[in-house]
Amino acid sequence: MKQKLEEIRASAKEALSDALNIDALEQLRIKYLGKKGELTAVLKGMGKLSPDERPVIGALANDIRSKIEGEIESKKAEISAKLEEEKLKLETLDVTMPGKRQATGELHPLTKVLENIKSTFIGMGFQIADGPEVEYDYYNFEALNIPKNHPARDEQDTFYISDNIVLRTQTSGIQVRVMEKTKPPIRIIAPGKVYRSDAVDATHSPVFHQIEGLVVDKGVTMADLKGTLEMFIHALYGESTKVRFRPHHFPFTEPSAEVDISCFSCGGKGCPVCKGEGWIEILGCGMVHPKVLANCGIDPEVYSGFAFGIGLERIAMGKYGINDLRLFFENDLRFLSQF
Ligand code: DAH
Repeated sequence: MKQKLEEIRASAKEALSDALNIDALEQLRIKYLGKKGELTAVLKGMGKLSPDERPVIGALANDIRSKIEGEIESKKAEISAKLEEEKLKLETLDVTMPGKRQATGELHPLTKVLENIKSTFIGMGFQIADGPEVEYDYYNFEALNIPKNHPARDEQDTFYISDNIVLRTQTSGIQVRVMEKTKPPIRIIAPGKVYRSDAVDATHSPVFHQIEGLVVDKGVTMADLKGTLEMFIHALYGESTKVRFRPHHFPFTEPSAEVDISCFSCGGKGCPVCKGEGWIEILGCGMVHPKVLANCGIDPEVYSGFAFGIGLERIAMGKYGINDLRLFFENDLRFLSQF
């Protein structure tokens, strides 16, 4: 009987080490410990043993039973923990995974252009900043030197959540948020959606995208502004593109400029794309107004900076020869699958 028990111990050990799932373990429990199990059968036969043998065999059988039970329980716990871990892995959203279209290299044209612009600026040492789309009037206007009743507010009528909260009309408010929190040197770009109460047509949309840029440090000059933007434009449109800075007015920069590039369609001769002008306006920029720096707690006597605002749709339309802004937002796959 002792030999039989040792055989059961050996065969159970081997079977348990091969068992890979909870079902298999349950089967083994029945095989050895169930009502008709092998170990149970041995125990049932113990009545035939002599009084001397009984306690020895009984102790051995109990030892084998508890070893088998223990092994089954610990293997079950191990398997459940593994399953739980797998389940968690499946439930966790890996935000670094590319989307399906991204993985296949297909991107929304706006995303494609944005990624391109971002990598150019990251290459120049810029970081990416972010800000809320539902914004305080203070950040969208006031801190940018656009007080209530300033005529610049007319051009940027928007959707008011309350007297003091708006859907942002420009990404420029992110400049203020970044400057409030960061000590110079600052070098950021901040892409995002902006809103204006405009009716939809081929060149207007109540929702569109801008990319704000901001550099603040000691000794930053207009030459840095021009050099940085020229570098960016050449990276985006090619080295032969001519760049023109035209004086303009923005309340939050002084001096301010608009930047034109030689028409990507005709090269500057004049064509329908550039409306015969040979130039296409692509962004606004300027030296950060000392008042704006001071509003954010940066001493304009010590620091200076430049800022710029790029319209993403306009850039993408130019780059791909798209003539209607609405195409970006209609989700028509015949359009989107071309990129
Ligand atoms: N926020 C301006 C607009 O929506 C664009 C702009 C112009 C941004 C000049 C700037 C800047 O940072 O310096 O028209």
